[in-house]
Amino acid sequence: MGARYEVRGQVAVITLDNPPVNGLGYDTRVQVAQGVERAQADPGVVAIVLTGAGRAFSGGADIREFGSPKAIAEPNLLSLIRLLEDASKPVVAAVHAVCMGGGLELALGAHYRVAAPGTNVALPEVKIGLIPGAGGTQRLPRVLGVETALNMIVSGEPVKSEMLAALPGQKLFDRIVEGELLEGACAFALEKAGARPLPRVRDLPCRHPNADAYFQFARNTVKAMARNFPAPARCVDAVEASVKRRFDEAMVLEREIFSALMLTPECKALRHAFFGDRAASKIPDVPEGTPPRPVAKVAVIGAGTMGGGITMNFLNAGIPVTILETAQAALDRGLATIRRNYEAQVKKGKLGADKLEQRMALLTPALDYAAIADADLVIEAVFEEMGVKEAVFRRLDDTVKAGAILASNTSTLDVDRIAAFTRRPQDVVGMHFFSPANVMKLLEVVRGARTAPDVLATVMGVAKKIRKTAVVSGVCDGFIGNRMIEQYSRQAGFLLEEGCTPQQVDKAIEKFGFAMGPFRMGDLAGNDIGWAIRKRRYVEKPHLRYSKTADLLCEMGRYGQKTGAGWYDYQAGKRDAIASAVVEQMVAQHRQALGITARAISDEEIVHRLVYSLVNEAAHILEEGIASKSSDIDMVYLTGYGFPLWRGGPLCYADQQGLFNVVQSMKRFAANPHDDAAFWQPAPLLARLAAEGRSFT
Ligand code: NAI
Repeated sequence: MGARYEVRGQVAVITLDNPPVNGLGYDTRVQVAQGVERAQADPGVVAIVLTGAGRAFSGGADIREFGSPKAIAEPNLLSLIRLLEDASKPVVAAVHAVCMGGGLELALGAHYRVAAPGTNVALPEVKIGLIPGAGGTQRLPRVLGVETALNMIVSGEPVKSEMLAALPGQKLFDRIVEGELLEGACAFALEKAGARPLPRVRDLPCRHPNADAYFQFARNTVKAMARNFPAPARCVDAVEASVKRRFDEAMVLEREIFSALMLTPECKALRHAFFGDRAASKIPDVPEGTPPRPVAKVAVIGAGTMGGGITMNFLNAGIPVTILETAQAALDRGLATIRRNYEAQVKKGKLGADKLEQRMALLTPALDYAAIADADLVIEAVFEEMGVKEAVFRRLDDTVKAGAILASNTSTLDVDRIAAFTRRPQDVVGMHFFSPANVMKLLEVVRGARTAPDVLATVMGVAKKIRKTAVVSGVCDGFIGNRMIEQYSRQAGFLLEEGCTPQQVDKAIEKFGFAMGPFRMGDLAGNDIGWAIRKRRYVEKPHLRYSKTADLLCEMGRYGQKTGAGWYDYQAGKRDAIASAVVEQMVAQHRQALGITARAISDEEIVHRLVYSLVNEAAHILEEGIASKSSDIDMVYLTGYGFPLWRGGPLCYADQQGLFNVVQSMKRFAANPHDDAAFWQPAPLLARLAAEGRSFT
């Protein structure tokens, strides 16, 4: 399907019909062009209405064609817009629901526009590192005024049609149609049947009373807000041209900017993340149409830090939750925390007070398993001890209805062992949320050896409902994210031993773009957590060398912010990290004990050792099939670990550096006697890709 053509009385109706959002793919463009020609040739037709079938007018370019020759094959979008603009009979775009990107640019090529109320209108190209490339930067300022248009183009955010239509002097919408849209559009088209000359947006004047000062101001604002992304500043350039250049010249500039941005690493990274997000929900051996199990009632076991946050996700989505604890006191504490979190949102004006009560009303506290027997999905978030998990899963197996999904939020335990505590391992899955669970986007869905395909499909659907980015991981120590971060933490420790201070390491990686360096992060999360994990792990794996500095720190009671001291010093009540002389001395003594002479280490070495340690471990994870595609790993790091979005994730970054260069660096690191030579042997997959001149993506 592409577009349909029909004649209603004297009006030709061209309906975009390319599900799901009427993307302007090749077939659609061809059929719209044919429709316009047919309507012009038909003496019985006096006007043309362009509308969209189903859920949208048009969401813009067809992303399935992205990067393929079809995307720009004639008639391309520019030609199609030209065709509408030059049509000899009035063209009315009738937009509803979604009118975005190329869809809005197409509508701006029509002579008139009518809209259903509630239509989301946007030029979101900036979100994938681009500017609108089919006249959006030139036509939108002409109909909405320079400032409103620039705000929309720079933010990419949707604005409702009725709000835009209410702006004084606007020419975007000629009418908001309250009733049936197509009927209203056809009536409007008949009113305009005789209008000549036909108005074209390109012919409208574009002015600003104080252009130079305004664009200077806009440029400064945008630079401060989007330091690491080039596209927003280029939006300003393009819109400035709408005021300062002739239309056709400005269109050439728009195209030049668009093409230049397309080649930037930031644009590649943003597109990678955009497609990675969509790809994450596709699991290679779970067919797309797999029917999910219904999930109307959720139970959460454990009302602690994670249980509370997890619960909030469901309440926010309007799904009732029963939360189960062992004792009334713990239950009261958990409920009070949830309420307090909502109250804080109300205070900040982010949530209505009535919404708070609505959400709390969906929550049922329980001390007895009988209360959760009919749950469709149970998520366990009790203490991280196999014995406790065993007791809980045996109880669940005995009490919860057949077909319910039994999920564990464990971060370190073997999901297959947990599944084996039940007589229904096919219904058991890991749902590894990140803290704070009501805020963090990432959800690792841990697929056990026997997890049923429809359980996976269901959980991926549930994740979407609660607005998480879900990535499937196989069972292994640490799953995808924490298994990689362990190598990163080890490198951070080695860097201290060799001469860095915690602040030097943190600064270097924060300059690279991480939200927080490893030592500040440790102080925030609590260094005792890692300590406890290391006590277990390095007993099991004595061959894995790691820096003992973190243990020494904990032995000094410096757990981080919560104890007022960690890798940094903290003043009472403040979170500012202050370089610590005590820590420096501890590290220096440890270094001496190891017989290492401190050396100056460059920021580049710090960044590459930290990031490439992620990359090498990721390559093992891919090869072992723990992750099914490289973009999944990047999504884990972008949404769960504060990896800079404009770099697209560790593997996208490695690709951009060139895998040959990455491997060369690893060989250098392996030759460092104070590092772990065995770890720095490039993973076989990485070595192979580098040798063949290929990339992860
Ligand atoms: P927590 O100690 O804050 O909460 C655990 C809660 O479970 C307590 O309220 C306790 O009373 C309750 N509980 C213990 N045994 C129970 C039982 N048999 N039946 C019902 N309730 C019981 O611990 P937290 O941090 O919430 O961790 C819970 C789980 O989430 C662990 O498996 C942990 O590994 C995992 N996790 C923790 C993350 C974190 O950052 N804290 C991140 C991701 C996963």
